[in-house]
Amino acid sequence: MSVSFITLETKENFSQDLIIHKPPSGISLQGVIQIPGDKSISHRALILGSIAYGETEIQGLLLGEDPYSTASCFQAMGAKISELNTISVRIKGIGLGNLREPVDVLNAGNSGTTLRLILGLLASHSDKFFIVTGDTSLRARPMSRVIQPLKQMGAEIWGRGENSLAPLAVRGKSLTSICYHSPIASAQVKSCILLASLMTEGKTIVTEPALSRDHSERMLKAFGAELTVDPEARSVTLNGRTRLYGQKVIVPGDISSAAFWLVAGSIVPGSDIIIKNVGINPTRTGVLEALEMMEAKIIRENEREVGEEPVADLRVFHSHLKGCVIAGDMIPRLIDEIPVLAVAAVFAKGKTVIKDAYELRVKESDRIMAMVKELKQMGAKVTELDDGMEITGGIPLRGADLDSYTDHRITMSLAVAALNAKGKTTIHRAEATNISYPDFVSTLQQVVIQ
Ligand code: S3P
Repeated sequence: MSVSFITLETKENFSQDLIIHKPPSGISLQGVIQIPGDKSISHRALILGSIAYGETEIQGLLLGEDPYSTASCFQAMGAKISELNTISVRIKGIGLGNLREPVDVLNAGNSGTTLRLILGLLASHSDKFFIVTGDTSLRARPMSRVIQPLKQMGAEIWGRGENSLAPLAVRGKSLTSICYHSPIASAQVKSCILLASLMTEGKTIVTEPALSRDHSERMLKAFGAELTVDPEARSVTLNGRTRLYGQKVIVPGDISSAAFWLVAGSIVPGSDIIIKNVGINPTRTGVLEALEMMEAKIIRENEREVGEEPVADLRVFHSHLKGCVIAGDMIPRLIDEIPVLAVAAVFAKGKTVIKDAYELRVKESDRIMAMVKELKQMGAKVTELDDGMEITGGIPLRGADLDSYTDHRITMSLAVAALNAKGKTTIHRAEATNISYPDFVSTLQQVVIQ
């Protein structure tokens, strides 16, 4: 049993190449996988723990670069956060409205969730001044989607690109509540407004065109916010000026990270893997629905509630996938899994159409362009659409020299494709996996059997 054909090479500039040289005798995936904590829930636990009164304990936190960015921003504003680990992180919250003016620029790194969510809090901290920035990718991502509603609440925010791009400067103000109909289904927009409204007088209502992930709503309620949800109207109402109190948060495994194994197990012949402790919040399970449409063999075992979130173990077997249409309201429920679903589609019989997913172009990279370009390099038949792609499956892939665009989900999706491609694949700038799944390569080396 050897995994010498999967290696991670660090280059002189500290960038890494992930090399997968599939042996001609073939491979399969076998075993039990523990996936890292959910990224969205990890951010929210750090944020709410920091602004609540009293102590918060987080179990199962994701130790990826993104949550580190969130933690460092809140430490710079006065929250006492113990060293990050997966067992137990303790936060001494400073109480709503008490964020300290940081002495330096806040850095959200690669994390859109960090930047967009904290903007709501910064904007509502009267008379305090903040500058917040991020890495090259984040500085190119659109922020007007949160700045616009915040300005309607009275916020003062400045930035490049007519006040739409980081670095952003914020002068905190006392904000007014709002009834906001968001034009996009985005949990980051929804959560930003909800966080901003925590300190406003009266009710804030946010509606969205399709239901996005609802982790903020669940966690805010658990921390004591007066919040009601109307799923049919896709609206959330929050009564401002309530106090939040520290809680114990147990973070389930991230279904977005599990998705790589769900697809890898489905496409590699002979595979049988169990993925433990996966969050199956219905606002996140679009990937399971899509794979079911493709006739994947995935079994949910041991379904249970952990804290505010539903959880299950997922068992996946190799299967003969069929093409499908991924579009409409399900898009927000699988938005981060589209790159790896595109890989599933390459190995599915017939045509798969992915549409209504323009949002993918403004993620950590332009994920439509990136996946189309790199899968084509491997020999796949893929056509780029403005809001998605069309894939004709069943054409064998060959190994190739690929780029990750320094995007964690592109790196891991291409690694999954390489497992079923002939010969050698090299993925450049593979260190991007550290954003959400630092153990991805070592786990891959463990589950691949020659
Ligand atoms: C996230 C929401 C989604 C998702 C991102 C995490 C969150 O973004 O793509 O990875 O934690 O709220 P949008 O809200 O922009 O769709």
